[in-house]
Amino acid sequence: MNKLKTTFAGLKLKSPIIVSSSGLTNNPQRILNLEKAGAGAVVLKSLFEEQISLLMNQYSQYNEYPEALDYIRSYSETWTVNEYTKLIKETKELCTIPVIASIHCISNGSWTSYAQQIEQAGADALELNISILNTSRDAVDVEKAHIEIVRSVKSQVSIPVIVKIGTNHANLVSLVDKLAGCGADAVTLFNRFYQPDINIQKLSFTAGNVFSKPEDLSNTIRWTAIVSGVLPQVEISASTGVHDWEAAVKMLLAGAQTVQICSAIYEQGDGILYEIETCIEEWMNQHSFHNLEDFRGRLNYKNIANPAMFERTQFMKYFASRENA
Ligand SMILES: Cc1cc2nc3c(=O)[nH]c(=O)nc-3n(C[C@H](O)[C@H](O)[C@H](O)COP(=O)(O)O)c2cc1C
Repeated sequence: MNKLKTTFAGLKLKSPIIVSSSGLTNNPQRILNLEKAGAGAVVLKSLFEEQISLLMNQYSQYNEYPEALDYIRSYSETWTVNEYTKLIKETKELCTIPVIASIHCISNGSWTSYAQQIEQAGADALELNISILNTSRDAVDVEKAHIEIVRSVKSQVSIPVIVKIGTNHANLVSLVDKLAGCGADAVTLFNRFYQPDINIQKLSFTAGNVFSKPEDLSNTIRWTAIVSGVLPQVEISASTGVHDWEAAVKMLLAGAQTVQICSAIYEQGDGILYEIETCIEEWMNQHSFHNLEDFRGRLNYKNIANPAMFERTQFMKYFASRENA
């Protein structure tokens, strides 16, 4: 897999294929199996800001939701903060690939000091999984909240900090630019948030599919290509919708530095990692590419002066092809 080696957020990786944060990465032995299967790095299961706040007895935002607090308490009992640093230490002892810790956060608070313990436990980097759902605030305030979290964490650790965000932003390119400006070493585009559905018989909310579908890929392609074109200095880890090797190649062509995979491993097993990597290498051989730099970003939006206008004309062509059929 020599052709696949790369760097990401200052880390050296034998492959750009990273296993994303999930239940797949909450156990050192499981992670060793993923390393053996070909993972270039892993992002550990997220620790939740609420779990750290609970430890610090600071969870006032849940006072109005006793049920939520009960759930957080019981979740935290099975997955404690101390266990998280233990997971980092044990995984580092067992594995050789970079281990990226993850914190799922929604606000800037004293919990950010906990990032230092993650660094001391030996994590190679930290991914901040920021998931702020804007239900009432001004978009500018939401951007500001992201920036404050990143600034605060960056001031406390020296390991690389990667910021994982969702798709729901008023101006994604501007947000990514600002995140990089305040020290983010890379961004992960995108987290796939909880998917709500509605049960029309019970008249209640339910959870939709936990796993992504290959169709989810196109949104990741679009924004990876745009952000990579407009902000070439920002490293992107593309996440959501990668279910096969072709999808991984598309992400690299769009400009991703690395590609994260989750649902496909749940559904197809660890063997998908080796399959993706060998097929990328074969494809590289067919195209006479010697390393990832030979084609990374070749199809990003760098050469398009106005990506929004490009998308608009593509949109017209796309529907016209059907309408005139
Ligand atoms: C069962 C499951 C658990 C997940 N847990 C986390 C988590 O703890 N932290 C996080 O940042 N993302 C979590 N995710 C999201 C994934 O890391 C990933 O961003 C998302 O599934 C999209 O990638 P995919 O299309 O390859 O599945 C989880 C996803 C699944 C399916």
